[in-house]
Amino acid sequence: MTLIRSEIIGWGHYLPEKVLTNDDLAKIVDTNDEWISTRTGIKTRHVVANELTSDMAYAASKMAIDRAGLTAEDIELIVVASVTPDNTTPSVATKLANRLGVKVGTPAYDILAACSGFVYALTQADNMIRLGQIKTALVIGAESLSKIVDWTDRNTCVLFGDGAGAVVLRAGEGKGDKSDKGILATKLYADGSHYDHLKTSGGVCSTQNAGFVSMDGKEVFKYAIGSLTQAAETVVEMAGYTNADIDWLIPHQANIRIISNVGEKLGLPAEKVIVSVDHHGNTSAASIPLAFSENMESGKIKKGDLVVFSAMGAGFTWGGAAVRL
Ligand code: ACO
Repeated sequence: MTLIRSEIIGWGHYLPEKVLTNDDLAKIVDTNDEWISTRTGIKTRHVVANELTSDMAYAASKMAIDRAGLTAEDIELIVVASVTPDNTTPSVATKLANRLGVKVGTPAYDILAACSGFVYALTQADNMIRLGQIKTALVIGAESLSKIVDWTDRNTCVLFGDGAGAVVLRAGEGKGDKSDKGILATKLYADGSHYDHLKTSGGVCSTQNAGFVSMDGKEVFKYAIGSLTQAAETVVEMAGYTNADIDWLIPHQANIRIISNVGEKLGLPAEKVIVSVDHHGNTSAASIPLAFSENMESGKIKKGDLVVFSAMGAGFTWGGAAVRL
């Protein structure tokens, strides 16, 4: 049996130059390095100066296309996951398509699934490849969360950061067995009964402005552990593997305590769980592709490894992907 498999052949990321430390935040709100470090694991985060979300998406995409050994002309689909687009409309993806110089007519759109956005976008692109509609896709998570954070609210402003990550997917062939490379399984979920537990305080039609992030931290915390674990376990099983086969878990980077709990529930040693929340903060849809690209570049994650992405965010939405590199 021959199957079409979407292989990840390129990766890229971008982080704004400006870095905010916990001590910097202690000058803005009533907080301190000890509280932030122990409760969240975050030490520093990058924040945009003059960059827009599309600028970060562009830099990450250029790197991913370059690593893939392709040119923009090869891209047949662009999907951007973001909750912080440059404009409410049109999409970041169309702006990016024009700037990259992809062929006119190449479909490009944004999706909003909050911190699960990258896994949602990856799943859609993978499905289009597996259906044979396209061969090559560019998938990006890009966020300027510093723009929707209330910098007077210590409950939220210490948690988030800005950045972008991207991957290039290309159709390959598999046999439906353990020799297969590429995206082996994906699974998406949502439960809108949690709409109010993590949201912005405004929006286009409700307040005519973007509002600021607000959340019930404890409710998010509890739900995140269960849903991130469920998504990872499900895709590993769908792919025909067990948790012991996982080389790397890349969970959404919201909080070190959530990440450690999920690793433990999956029975993984801490060394197999990728952590970037310490120097990125929570970058929502950008968190997984950013962590992935950084660790591909450093050589920590290698070709042939079994990598599991697991994400959870506002909505609530959650989902996972199992990938053999
Ligand atoms: N500095 C100092 N003190 C603070 C800060 C701060 N930055 N923020 C809150 N506090 C105080 C609170 O006011 C509270 O004080 P009080 O007891 O006098 O009222 C105290 O610290 C404890 O607050 P809690 O909310 O109980 O702290 P908790 O241990 O639950 O940690 C946190 C809060 C870190 C937000 C945690 O609930 C969490 O990580 N939740 C997950 C939320 C998350 O990561 N959201 C991101 C988006 S969701 C996602 O990406 C999946």
